[in-house]
Amino acid sequence: MLINNRPSRTIREHADGGVRVLDQRVLPHRIEEFVIDGLEAATFAIRQMVVRGAPLIGATAAYGVAVTLRGGKPGRELLETAVNQLAATRPTAVNLRWALQRVSNRLLATPETAEWVEAAFAEARVICEEDVVCNEAIGRTGLQILSQLWERRKAAGARRLEILTHCNAGWLACVDWGTATAPIYQAARAGIPVHVWVDETRPRNQGAALTAWELGQNGVPHTLIVDNAGGHLMQRGQVDVCIVGTDRVGARGDVANKIGTYLKALAAQDAGVPFYVAAPTSSIDWSVEDGLSQIPIEERSGREVTHVWGVDDAGVAREVRICAPDTAAANPAFDVTPGRLVTALLTEAGVVAADAASLARLRAGECER
Ligand code: MRU
Repeated sequence: MLINNRPSRTIREHADGGVRVLDQRVLPHRIEEFVIDGLEAATFAIRQMVVRGAPLIGATAAYGVAVTLRGGKPGRELLETAVNQLAATRPTAVNLRWALQRVSNRLLATPETAEWVEAAFAEARVICEEDVVCNEAIGRTGLQILSQLWERRKAAGARRLEILTHCNAGWLACVDWGTATAPIYQAARAGIPVHVWVDETRPRNQGAALTAWELGQNGVPHTLIVDNAGGHLMQRGQVDVCIVGTDRVGARGDVANKIGTYLKALAAQDAGVPFYVAAPTSSIDWSVEDGLSQIPIEERSGREVTHVWGVDDAGVAREVRICAPDTAAANPAFDVTPGRLVTALLTEAGVVAADAASLARLRAGECER
């Protein structure tokens, strides 16, 4: 998608041989890249959220293995060190484990360790290219839904299609397109007058800092709201549809996503607003039966709750405390929305109901593309 009218991606190989990612810690105030030149840099980038969002975490980890092997003696020992260290960076998004598994499988199927560096880079490239194709397909899946909704809303006299999203499941969370935003971008291109309510997404404000910025850069009308406003807007008929992303979907359709997603799903059900989850199949964890008890929820530093970061009117970056110094804070970073609250999953293979039988059919390859 676009940054300052130039097609951009979140992760790229540079001519100097290094891997560069867009540094999401400083967006939208500065556009900077972060260099991933080895295992420590890759680990730092994922853990400190230089990159974030399930698909991008996976792509970064894949490149993390490649740069690690290039900097040392390629072989099983170094591969294991890299995979174990990268897998421990963030627990909830299953794409991390999925991508590391893919790179490992490819390397272990390559007998000559002298070829491992090139093989790891090649697999990381494939993961990135597949992400773009997959998200574009999710966009087409979602576009069908949005087109139908818009026909109904237009017939009822609406001037625009009102979409609510939480966190950032945009192109900044992926390599390109985004998952939740792909249908929105495609609807806008198809001439549907979309408007997006963007949840700020405390504590790290991915909605305010990232989603609002990327929608703006790509010409999509949007309005930033505090996290607590969504239910109110839904009750008043000001939201036609919710679309969020996911970090992990269980085999029965439970969906882990950024903290606060569950509350939006509850409000959507009460208000009769459809609640869709854009989910690449790489985010499905078939080993999870019961999402509530089996999906690990990342606990992050309480400092993300007690402090907020931003720039003042002079453009100077500041972090300020918003509570008394001795206030205790808890910071669960994700929650799990039961499949029964999800209208459907928007996947690259089509619309899939968030239940065990439908997901089993998807796994068996019986879903329409
Ligand atoms: O903590 P983050 O910013 O990595 O959380 C991101 C989300 O929860 C996204 O909604 C999810 O990863 C889907 S991204 C396509």
